[in-house]
Amino acid sequence: MSERALNPETIAISAGRPARDTDASVNPDISISSTFHAGGPIGYGRYGNSSWSALEDAIAQLEGGATLAFSSGMSAISAVFSLLPIGAPIVASNQGYSGTMALLNSYQASGRLEVRFVNITDTTEVINAMNGAAFLWIESPTNPCLEIADLPTLIVAARNISVGVGVDNTFATPLIQKPLEMGADIVMHSVTKYLAGHSDVIMGSLSTKIPALHKRLEDARKLNGAIPGPFEAWLALRGIRTLGMRMERAQSNALEIATRLSNHPDISRVRYPGLLTDSQYPRAASFMKGFGAIVSFEVVADAAHADRVCNSSDLITHATSLGGVESLWERRRRWPLESLSVPENLIRLSVGCENVEDIWVDIEQSLERAHTVSSELFP
Ligand SMILES: Cc1ncc(COP(=O)(O)O)c(C=O)c1O
Repeated sequence: MSERALNPETIAISAGRPARDTDASVNPDISISSTFHAGGPIGYGRYGNSSWSALEDAIAQLEGGATLAFSSGMSAISAVFSLLPIGAPIVASNQGYSGTMALLNSYQASGRLEVRFVNITDTTEVINAMNGAAFLWIESPTNPCLEIADLPTLIVAARNISVGVGVDNTFATPLIQKPLEMGADIVMHSVTKYLAGHSDVIMGSLSTKIPALHKRLEDARKLNGAIPGPFEAWLALRGIRTLGMRMERAQSNALEIATRLSNHPDISRVRYPGLLTDSQYPRAASFMKGFGAIVSFEVVADAAHADRVCNSSDLITHATSLGGVESLWERRRRWPLESLSVPENLIRLSVGCENVEDIWVDIEQSLERAHTVSSELFP
C-alpha cells in the first residue's frame, strides 16, 4: 500500500484485518479459547486475544495511540483512576456521564482521590484548579448537557505544568476530535456507543501514545480482569466498519432535528453544539470536525410530561444508551444517579440513522400524544 495517510472513514473500514495471504480470511476470526499453547506472547485468555487485537488495532489507528479493549467504558475509566496514588488531587467536570460522576464522588468520599470539581466550560477556572493537581479528566461534549471543553487550550495548559490528561471521547468519536494529537495522555471510549454502533455490545477502550502508560494500563487490565469477550470485540470491529457513514448520517439528522425542535412551541430549550444559536457553538466550531448526534431538549412542562413524550413514540426507542443506528430517547433524571443540575424535564435524544422525516414525524406525534394522554388522565 502507498505511504499516503488514509482518511479516518477509510481506516475504520481497512484497519484490523488479517494479512492478505492467499485464502486467508478477510475478517479476523473470533478466537474462542481461554488459554493458548505455551511459549508465545499471549499465554492466557486474560492477557490477550487475537479478536481483541484486531479491534485494538483499528481504534489505535483511528485515535493515533496504542489501544487496549476493556469489558466496558466504566472498567476502562476505573483502570485510568486505579493508576493514581491514594489521595491524588485531580480535576474533573462537575457535569458528565452519571456513572463517571458517581465513581468520582465515591473516590472523593472514601479519600481514594481528592476530586476538584469544576465548570469545564470555564477555562480559567479549570486552569486555576489544575495548580498542584496530578490529573485532569475531561468529557467533551458532556453527557447529557452537551457542554464543550476548550480541549486544545486545556490540554496545552495541563502539559505545561505536567498534569496528566485523560479525555472521554465517546460523544465525539475520533472522526470529530483526536485528543491524543492535541497532546492528551489517554483517550477513553465507551465502545458500547458510536464505535460499536448497533446497541449490541458493552465495551470500552483506552488509547495512549506513551508506551510506559500503555504497559501500566495493560497490567491493570490483566490484574483487575476487566477484559472483553472475543465475540463482543468482533462485533465492535464489525460495527466500526460503518462508523464514517453512520456518523455522517446521524449528524446531519441531528442538526435537522435540533433546528426543527428549536421552532417547536412545546420545547423551551434545545442543546446541540451544532446550532448557531447554541452557547457552545463557537467553541465547538473552532476545533471540532462535527457536532455529534446527541440532541438534548427540555419540554415546556414537567418531568411527568417528558416521560409521557418518551413513552409515546412508535419509532424512537424509549431506552437508555446512545450511539446506535436506531434513535433512542429518555428523560435523564429518571435515573437516581443523574446529577441534580440536569433539568427534570430534559430529554436526551440519540439521533440515529433512520430517514430524518420518519424521526421528525415520530417526535411531533409523541409531543402531541403526550398532551392527549395528560388531558385524558386529568379531564
Ligand atoms: C460519555 C460516557 N462515558 C462513559 C460511559 C460508560 O460506558 P459503558 O456503559 O460502556 O460502561 C457512558 C455510558 O453511557 C457514557 O455515555
